[in-house]
Amino acid sequence: MANILITGSSGFIGSFLVEEALKRELSVYAGVRKSSSLAYLKDPGIHFAELDLTDKTRLKEFFLEQKQNGIRFDYVIHNAGLTKAQKKEDFYRVNYTYTRNFAEALIESDCIPLKFVYISSLAAYGPGDEASMKPVMLDDVPKPVDEYGKSKLEAEKYLKTLPGFPLLIIRPSGVYGPREKDYFVYFQTISRGMEPYIGYKPQILTFIYVRDLVRLILDATVSDIKGKAYFITDGKHYDSREFAAITKKHLGKKTFKITLPLGLVGGIALVMEKIFSLGGKMPTLNTDKFKIMKSTNWTCQVDALQKDFDFRAAYDLDKGVKEVLEWYQKEGWL
Ligand SMILES: NC(=O)c1ccc[n+]([C@@H]2O[C@H](COP(=O)([O-])OP(=O)(O)OC[C@H]3O[C@@H](n4cnc5c(N)ncnc54)[C@H](OP(=O)(O)O)[C@@H]3O)[C@@H](O)[C@H]2O)c1
Repeated sequence: MANILITGSSGFIGSFLVEEALKRELSVYAGVRKSSSLAYLKDPGIHFAELDLTDKTRLKEFFLEQKQNGIRFDYVIHNAGLTKAQKKEDFYRVNYTYTRNFAEALIESDCIPLKFVYISSLAAYGPGDEASMKPVMLDDVPKPVDEYGKSKLEAEKYLKTLPGFPLLIIRPSGVYGPREKDYFVYFQTISRGMEPYIGYKPQILTFIYVRDLVRLILDATVSDIKGKAYFITDGKHYDSREFAAITKKHLGKKTFKITLPLGLVGGIALVMEKIFSLGGKMPTLNTDKFKIMKSTNWTCQVDALQKDFDFRAAYDLDKGVKEVLEWYQKEGWL
């Protein structure tokens, strides 16, 4: 039975990666930290690996100890990452420096896996051109617009410098699904009868449902393919009004449309960020997120997914939103 180590297992995508890996009968080591919630990691088959990504020496000790006990990680998915941060330095510390610690510890303890999958983001490349509305292509020059995207790109660039490292880079677009907390705020807003738009130009959005994403990531992990990167979407793109229409249909709600001028939302993001910072928190709407929210072209090249992994999404937005809303309702979130 092959061993797989998944960092950030306690989070939204990580917990689904663990489930998918267990389904495939891999021996799963869920990388967590002391403070992580284990609420979605209840399967008795899970081995826990408490990893301190801040400390390369301790990481090396961990890998050497595993090796001594006869455990080698055949596959590693480095999924831990920071998507919201109090300070811009936090993005670089977690997404870049900790990735570097982790990869160096694997190399220096001579525990390089057969495949190292890095969960990056479409944000590392930034949105596509808004005049031509051309999709972001795999061979484009990356142009991240927010600090989060820039930090993910830094990590990608670093990993690519490692000679002979069995790297595969996955760059999902917007990931939604059960347990997710940011799109949830949007669903909640619609369920309360409000339909917000930012700016007057419709946004063209791309999505991937978490169950399709983890299926694809595990297919890619155990495949022979390495040294490549992929953008991940469900293969379609959606106008922001379509996203709202689908949500309203499944919630059975009528809504009041509110279009907020870009300048106003930017101002609110700034004020919210200042208020929340007093309590040491970061609001869902913040200045960095605003840069992402105002971008109108989130289309990207995904044809390689079908070619390399025979991937076809089982969920389009209509089917995925229906399922996720049912989950939020069943769990009492909505
Ligand atoms: N959600 C999306 O739409 C999306 C899109 C593209 C890419 N991604 C990428 O997918 C990955 C997972 O994101 P997610 O949406 O599942 O986020 P999430 O729910 O916030 O999960 C993040 C995970 O990373 C761990 N983590 C965060 N800071 C850490 C630190 N300092 N040390 C160790 N572990 C740390 C968290 O551990 P704790 O539970 O202990 O905090 C958690 O397990 C990230 O790398 C993100 O950049 C997400």
